[in-house]
Amino acid sequence: MSVHISAKKGEIAKTVLMPGDPLRAKYIADNFLTDAKLVSQTRNIYFYTGNYKGKEITVGASGMGFPSIGIYSFELFTEYEVETIIRIGTCGAYSTDLKLFDILNVENAASESTYAKFAWGIEEDAISNQGNAFDKINETAKELGLEAKATNIHSSDIFYRKDPAVPEIALRHNCPAVEMEAFALFANAKHLGKNAATILTVSDIIPTHEQISADQREQALRTMMELSLETAIK
Ligand code: ADE
Repeated sequence: MSVHISAKKGEIAKTVLMPGDPLRAKYIADNFLTDAKLVSQTRNIYFYTGNYKGKEITVGASGMGFPSIGIYSFELFTEYEVETIIRIGTCGAYSTDLKLFDILNVENAASESTYAKFAWGIEEDAISNQGNAFDKINETAKELGLEAKATNIHSSDIFYRKDPAVPEIALRHNCPAVEMEAFALFANAKHLGKNAATILTVSDIIPTHEQISADQREQALRTMMELSLETAIK
């Protein structure tokens, strides 16, 4: 057990797939894993460990934002000997250059957040994905005939804001979209020498207010789930 995860030592696989939403973790376990076991449900943040094509994988939620993914990824890396975390989430596009359902493989996460600085003394405001998971995602996408665009992403603390203009940091680091977790995940992995990647599906186009509808969401996210699972067994 760790402070926020009640799984026993040995009940978490070396590779963890991390959607934000606990029910999405359950969906992946129910639909893609065999012999899936619920190994932690503290605070309703579900973690399931099961097999995908014969390899043990854990799927567990991160919750929303840097504090939440910061806690879960740190405890997974340090208390459960996890080597690789692949976040699978959604993002909002800053322009119509991206389309709904586009899949992104995050190269660098840029943020105004002080998380990396005050947690680990990392001064940079953009942190790259860590280790080999990013390359494996690219290879796997090619094999599956999918496009996973290598992209910088704005990782923000803010979902609702007064000013609709694209934030300065996103412009400076050439980030076409925004989400809320990759920067803290990459910071933890960088500090601890672990692997971390982030795959995102574009779920909304901010200037036009287009959104993936509730009934499109499941099918749209299945592609990203399959890409992450096929990457995880490499
Ligand atoms: N995740 C999905 N859409 C988002 C948005 N518009 N802002 C921040 N995170 C998001």
